[in-house]
Amino acid sequence: MHERLGQIRDEALHAVAVVADTRELGELKVRYLGKKSPITEVLGGMKDVPPAERPRIGEVANQVRDALALAIEQRGEALKQAELLTRLEGERLDVTLPGRRPAQTGSIHPLSRVMQEIVDVFGSLGFTVAEGPEIEKDFYNFEALNIPRNHPSRDMQDTFYISEDILLRTHTSPVQVRTMLQQRPPVRIIAPGKVYRCDSDITHTPMFHQVEGLLIDKKTTFAELKGVLEYFCQAMFGAKTAVRFRPSFFPFTEPSAEVDIECVMCRGKGCRVCKMTGWLEILGCGMVDPNVFGSVEYDPEVYQGFAFGMGVERITMLKYGINDLRLFFENDLSFLAQYR
Ligand code: DAH
Repeated sequence: MHERLGQIRDEALHAVAVVADTRELGELKVRYLGKKSPITEVLGGMKDVPPAERPRIGEVANQVRDALALAIEQRGEALKQAELLTRLEGERLDVTLPGRRPAQTGSIHPLSRVMQEIVDVFGSLGFTVAEGPEIEKDFYNFEALNIPRNHPSRDMQDTFYISEDILLRTHTSPVQVRTMLQQRPPVRIIAPGKVYRCDSDITHTPMFHQVEGLLIDKKTTFAELKGVLEYFCQAMFGAKTAVRFRPSFFPFTEPSAEVDIECVMCRGKGCRVCKMTGWLEILGCGMVDPNVFGSVEYDPEVYQGFAFGMGVERITMLKYGINDLRLFFENDLSFLAQYR
């Protein structure tokens, strides 16, 4: 039996030494140290051993078991270490490789950007943003703004009618009326938004953007209107930009004016963009017509105000030297990406 135990030990130690990985080692451990191991099998024959020799055999069996257990443990450590190394080797990263670029990110549309800029300039003067619906009633879009039905000034704007009384707003001016009906003076609002006109060619799109402004108080002067708009033009186009007011007509203001800035392309010398005049028209304005106060029940003997309105597409084109209106609506990434 003694000899047999020695054989088992040598055989097992050899097997442990040549085992390939921790999984196989696990199997060996079960085979040699488990319940059905050859050692247990040998000890089963103990009853045939003279009692005096039994303790000695037991001792040897324990030594063999301990030796195997130790060998398995040491081999296990070595294998684990080796397996870890192989894994690390496989997962090795070359940190000197160039990184992956993030997917292309979006950018704010130039129209949104300029609209926000306009709102910010007036915001710095204390104007707050007001909004109104794009689907509007004839009353707010025309009637209350001193543009009666069948009046020739309705021809200034080609309207999309939804029904006789409902239309797509042709300008942001109806927000003036809505605001005045909702609050008492003083009023100081700016109304950015989309407007619609039945017009489509190289220089007109059926939808475009405007920003409207309205200021009403007990004493408001044309000089203040000039001051506010001059400040605005210079904030948008540079402090040295010349600004001029030209008499004009709008049904909802009296007197009315259009505002020109010195041509941003030729700096006033005269070029194709300004049609050799040296000036570019950028907005309309005037003192609120007493008839408009009449429709919102403000007393024109007590209150005065001024209003102005401008096209965002036009201002954006002039500011960035964009020469084709269609670029705003084509969503061409190579165009849009320039306005990051
Ligand atoms: N609503 C005018 C338009 O769409 C622009 C405008 C002109 C607005 C003069 C005003 C204003 O408030 O006073 O052409």
